Amino acid sequence: MSAEPHLVEDEGGSLTALLEVEDTTVQVDDGVARRPEPLALVVFGASGDLAHRKILPALAQLVERGSLDDHVAVVGVARSEWTDEEFRAMCRKLTPAGSSGAWEALVEGFRYVAGDYGDDATFSTLATVLDELDETRGTSGNRMYYLATVPAVFGQVARSLAAHGGSEPGRGGTFARLVVEKPFGSDLASAQELDAELHQAFREDQIFRIDHYMGKETVQNVLALRFANSIFEPVWNRRYVDHVQVTVAESLGVEHRGGFYETAGALRDIVQNHVMQVLALTLMEPPSTMDAGGIRDEKVKLLRSVVVPDPDEAVNNVVRAQYGAGIVGGEDVPAYRAEEGVDPVSETETYVAMHLLVDNWRWAGVPVYVRTGKRLATRATEVSMVFQRPPHLPFAGKLARDLRPDTLTLRIQPDEGISLCFGAKVPGPAFKVRTVAMDFSYADAFPGGTAEAYERLLLDAMGGDATLFIRSDEVDQAWEIVAPIQQAFSEGEPPLARYRAGSWGPIEADRLVEGGGRQWRNP
Ligand code: BG6
Repeated sequence: MSAEPHLVEDEGGSLTALLEVEDTTVQVDDGVARRPEPLALVVFGASGDLAHRKILPALAQLVERGSLDDHVAVVGVARSEWTDEEFRAMCRKLTPAGSSGAWEALVEGFRYVAGDYGDDATFSTLATVLDELDETRGTSGNRMYYLATVPAVFGQVARSLAAHGGSEPGRGGTFARLVVEKPFGSDLASAQELDAELHQAFREDQIFRIDHYMGKETVQNVLALRFANSIFEPVWNRRYVDHVQVTVAESLGVEHRGGFYETAGALRDIVQNHVMQVLALTLMEPPSTMDAGGIRDEKVKLLRSVVVPDPDEAVNNVVRAQYGAGIVGGEDVPAYRAEEGVDPVSETETYVAMHLLVDNWRWAGVPVYVRTGKRLATRATEVSMVFQRPPHLPFAGKLARDLRPDTLTLRIQPDEGISLCFGAKVPGPAFKVRTVAMDFSYADAFPGGTAEAYERLLLDAMGGDATLFIRSDEVDQAWEIVAPIQQAFSEGEPPLARYRAGSWGPIEADRLVEGGGRQWRNP
């Protein structure tokens, strides 16, 4: 059926595009078509927070949806002195609402190996358990090891696995894969060291590095927007785009992770990985193929072109800041320095804003502003392409006072969708123009909802599809970009600015973009 879009003005004055298409309830891909082969999934760090909050619940959802083969078995490995039954009891508590019983049935076959990661016995016991599962659960010798541990033991676990034959498939199997969580190092040198250690045990094509932002539907939708349409690409360049903004704002603080965050800060925790991934997908060249090689090659090429202007002068192009006490969502919240596990005189940044450039044919001279912070006014991740003003406005200045530059915003979360802001005539005798918004909402167009990032990534890793995982050269390149900033931070430059919890960050970040009359687009 042909679609006749019409615009409706809502109370706030924004125009909403109503697209009457026959099938507005297109169902999301439930993954059934991509059912992976039988396998044993070994979760290192099985008694820890990540396994409990993300990995096992995602697995439970996949099982309930029928996305997995019946011959998938799980082995938890951790230091906690649990038995098989205690591990199973923990997993049963993660049963999804409205369960068909499939998860609990699978959990019956789960195994647990208690042991130290430095102890040989842990790995020989694991090897025995895996052999048993091949016999009893039909896991067919296929292995997927998930490192949900502290990064300090990644190398050791990989080496010990290899020493016990674990980096090769078991008898009759076709694969052994290693899934690694971030952080991949804490700078370029440590990332390369970690890679060298992993590569002693596993080949690059066996390693699946997770950046959970790549599992988000709306991050993948950047590719659909750009490459499934013909109207955006022609303006996706320096001739039309004035500047680009990437915001990853969180209203949460550091929660119970103060100790970890003290060693990370916003630059390592978010900019080096999530921000760079979103940036790469948004600004890269069209890939020749939508597969792991095609997409990752283009991402690396883009990252190679990203520079911090005047690296010696980080002070002019980078803002680092830390939150003080304030009010978030109507609640009083403490200053970062008063959080549990945080040094009371900590200089760790909880906010970073940067002016970057992409030194290539498409983007030369276009400022790219990125910012991320904890305890900001709201939780919102989005990318905005802010277009150049028209060359000449044929209206009297005061009639166009409320006209902002045309902006295409990709709302990655929450309220997932895309909005296009442009000028429209305000009804009435005067030719007044004002900015209005045309909105696409994921929830309205696809009421079935979207899968959690970890579900998608787990399923892809089990199926051997590396497209959404981070290749080692991407990791290195992202560290290269932030290296001069890390250097400046370690020398106390730029001075640590302050912002109130619940605000939009420090005044210094506004100044960063104010040149040329620009301003942050606050969601
Ligand atoms: C993690 C960071 O990688 O991403 C956390 O370590 C952050 O500090 C989280 O809170 C944000 O993820 P999301 O999916 O909530 O945007």
